[in-house]
Amino acid sequence: MSQEAIYPPPAAFAAQANVPSLEAYQALCAKAAEHPEEFWGELAQKELHWFAPYKNVFEWNPPFVKWFTGGKTNIAYNCLDRHLATNGGKVAFHWEGEPGDTRTITYAELHRLVCRFANVLKSRGLNTGDRAIIYMPMVPEAAVAMLACARLGITHSVVFGGFSAEALRARIQDLGAQAVITADGGWRRKKEVRLKDAVDESLAGCETIHTVIVHRRTGSNIHMQAGRDFYWADLEAALDPATANDCPAVELDSEHPLYVLYTSGTTGKPKGILHTTAGYNLFLHMTMKWVFDLKPSDVYWCSADIGWVTGHSYIVYGPLSAGATSIMYEGTLDTPDFGRWWSIVERYKASILYTSPTAIRALIRQGEQWPEKYNLTSLRLLGSVGEPINPAAWEWYHRVIGGSRCPIVDTWWQTETGGILIAPMPGAVALKPGSGTFPMPGVLPEVVDLSGKPVPAGAEGYLVLRRPWPAMLRTIWGDPKRYEEQYWSRVPGVYFTGDAARRDAGGYLWVLGRVDDVMNVSGHRLSTMEVESALVKHPAVAEAAVVGKPHEITGQAVCCFVTLKQGAHDHEALGKELRQWVAHEIGSFARPEEIRFTEGLPKTRSGKIMRRLLREIVTTNSVSGDVTTLEDLSVVSKLAAQQEDD
Ligand code: WTA
Repeated sequence: MSQEAIYPPPAAFAAQANVPSLEAYQALCAKAAEHPEEFWGELAQKELHWFAPYKNVFEWNPPFVKWFTGGKTNIAYNCLDRHLATNGGKVAFHWEGEPGDTRTITYAELHRLVCRFANVLKSRGLNTGDRAIIYMPMVPEAAVAMLACARLGITHSVVFGGFSAEALRARIQDLGAQAVITADGGWRRKKEVRLKDAVDESLAGCETIHTVIVHRRTGSNIHMQAGRDFYWADLEAALDPATANDCPAVELDSEHPLYVLYTSGTTGKPKGILHTTAGYNLFLHMTMKWVFDLKPSDVYWCSADIGWVTGHSYIVYGPLSAGATSIMYEGTLDTPDFGRWWSIVERYKASILYTSPTAIRALIRQGEQWPEKYNLTSLRLLGSVGEPINPAAWEWYHRVIGGSRCPIVDTWWQTETGGILIAPMPGAVALKPGSGTFPMPGVLPEVVDLSGKPVPAGAEGYLVLRRPWPAMLRTIWGDPKRYEEQYWSRVPGVYFTGDAARRDAGGYLWVLGRVDDVMNVSGHRLSTMEVESALVKHPAVAEAAVVGKPHEITGQAVCCFVTLKQGAHDHEALGKELRQWVAHEIGSFARPEEIRFTEGLPKTRSGKIMRRLLREIVTTNSVSGDVTTLEDLSVVSKLAAQQEDD
């Protein structure tokens, strides 16, 4: 079986690795577990710049934690200023736009851009403690906006450009933001994604926003509201030239709120995950070295979008803190053709590629002729994130992209964890395709039952974490009670990940997928409840139940069961309309694959929709197990029968 395949670190890789052996990895883990204060304290002093030293390494008042209390630092300073003396001329980003336009930005240039934009923010009266929404395409200005906020201590919330105006408004309101930083649009598959239009729609009725700053990307016609909307370039041009490039990083508390990133939970309302400054910074900095084995000469490419946590941690804050040269790409993997990524790897001589299983599966389908046309020998390490990687995709990635020479780091983590928690250190750990292998130092995962008792090796259970780590979320924005309930009360005393996992006899961890009502579509988190709430807003819909359906490429696809209100309906037309409706309410990435109309939904006696049954219907076309609590069994058999007719 392919699960038994094992890939020891190639000798040449181990010889040069930051963590070169299993013993070295184990020594790090032992120290972090036994003396966490010493372990993290020493790293913090060595790896970060401090304006004022911290007093305590951490303060743990379960479930609330603080790291490096009393210290003063600034993540933008750590990402930029401290590199200037030795590495100002080093490339921070090789940027590639979708239409093929390019920019190369050095650390010195990025520093200058960030200082100028921070001054722009100040010129609009924004300052430490304020909140700003960033709704941008994958252009360097997105990173500049994040870093400028961080420099001033303005808490940012990046909203993925694929989210709709509705979703954007909900986030603006929850955050109580004062400003939106956006662009006229971005490019996706040669079409413009009109971001400013969505901002306009979202701001109707939003009182808190006094400033919208618009970066010109596509140059298309947009509406600008006088007194509220300003072009980035105009505000920059209005700065005093004598001081425009000058903007010292604000000396912020270690626990200053760096950003809030909204993610899907088990209810319809997205959760604002709060990350703070110093602990987050240190943890990302370290995982760049541990997991990506980062060296000064690397050219690193993370293909995520900055709208998701992977982009925050592993395009912006992690790589820049560690002084990496990165590639940033605006477009998709199939535009203009399926060779696009490989041409980028060849051109910039990328040495590390970090992407998702969904992307790999989409590439596999197009065949090996695309990567074969390009020289990929610069690659030395590959990464995977976002969902479990099936061994067949792993093997293809390893052989075709990695030339059978590059280790693959399968990295398990979450928006909430801030950084990678389970992944191999590639010079130290033998790989098993599909397993994230072992935890980072100081991270103590366990596979348990609901009472918190570890399950035996090989058995499936809930993945939980026993100890706080530096990049752990601090709370849910404005809702500490929900934070406590969601993460710390399902299994007493430990962090509940929401994932199922198993630990094999060799101690390897295998993360199997969500145990809650969260779907994973192309590595994007989406709650079934969010889609259901969107559907029932439609005038024709009476009830909706949504489940994830296994999908060959995207991992899962959104499948909706819908009952309609009285009246005649053209199902085909309505099906199309509802798919479009969901895309408009949430965002195009949430567009359902399937809408299935039914006369009733299977429910328990207490009226809860039995999603398990629906999942089974879409997965296996049949129903089994205990259905005695069903209110109306005929509904289930009808649904199952309907599937067979399709
Ligand atoms: C899933 C993305 C298996 C998991 C960084 C988790 C994974 C959710 C992996 C978080 C992996 C992420 N193997 N499953 N390597 N990486 N997941 O918040 O279910 O968008 O709980 O963070 O993705 O998704 P999120």
